[in-house]
Amino acid sequence: MKTEILTILKENDGFVSGQDLCSRLKVSRTAVWKVIRQLQEEGYQIEAVRNKGYRLLQTPDVMTAAEIGSRLHTRLIGKKLVYYDETDSTNIQGAKLAREGCPDGTVVVADSQTAGKGRRGRNWSSPHGSSIYISFVLRPDIPPACASSITLIAGMAAAEAIKAETGILAGIKWPNDVVINGKKVCGILTEMNAEVEAIHYIVSGIGINVNQQEFPEEIRETATSLKLEGKKEVNRSSLAAKLAESFERFYEIFLQTGDLSQLKDLYEGMLVNLGRQVKVLDPKGDYQGICRGINIEGELLVECPGGDLRQVRSGEVSVRGVYGYV
Ligand code: BTN
Repeated sequence: MKTEILTILKENDGFVSGQDLCSRLKVSRTAVWKVIRQLQEEGYQIEAVRNKGYRLLQTPDVMTAAEIGSRLHTRLIGKKLVYYDETDSTNIQGAKLAREGCPDGTVVVADSQTAGKGRRGRNWSSPHGSSIYISFVLRPDIPPACASSITLIAGMAAAEAIKAETGILAGIKWPNDVVINGKKVCGILTEMNAEVEAIHYIVSGIGINVNQQEFPEEIRETATSLKLEGKKEVNRSSLAAKLAESFERFYEIFLQTGDLSQLKDLYEGMLVNLGRQVKVLDPKGDYQGICRGINIEGELLVECPGGDLRQVRSGEVSVRGVYGYV
């Protein structure tokens, strides 16, 4: 009911009468008042005037299910939304919910993580109150081999949402690091539970550095945040809702074909590596070449000296710029 009340208050600039809320939500005046009190305790400035009703004056920067839910206009993603003030990892919780049978498109969000997971077994710094930690639980009917494209879609969705919310033009370092001015602002960890032929579930987890000003020593040189880049505080729930909406749009397009044929051009438009010299860190031996884009499976195309075009699969290798991270 909190989400519904917030949605109605946000749709109206002026007062909404208590009676109106009661009849729309089919609940008592006391029930409405209780929710209004809860919202005020969470930091919402809601004016309550006898004979006029309620008016929302100010929304706090919170990442709660009600706040994100009241901003969402999706069909699938976020129809079920689970929020934690603190949890171990939204990917861990997403996988747990998936095993318990949660619906396709379930979203798990946290204000902080105590065991945030990064790629290659690294940890993901996840302090309170400043960033987005969000995971999408998906049950696509596609062969497991096609699932790695979901991670590229998540990167595109993050870059698009950042542009829409802040106006900042972010790029993608293949496969899915979102970067601004050569520094990483967003990381994505997609995990899958599957058999040879079928996917049970996928959890695609996205971490965006939003209003963070400080980073742990080991990533200080390569990490940035939207606030550091745009010099402005960013509303996290608005950005999270835009992220869910972009993700849903790209995900639906992807599901039509099970590959990136309809998204390849858009992805390449965001790819910071395109046309640049890259170094491929391959366990079988590093090599260098010019990045020529991706194929419809999401593999990076690298043209080696001599003209040989190699297809680089994510997960097996890591790609760097020749002179640094990008
Ligand atoms: C990376 O190393 O670049 C991937 C980082 C992924 C971090 C996100 S935060 C939300 C989700 N939950 C996690 O534990 N990890 C991902």
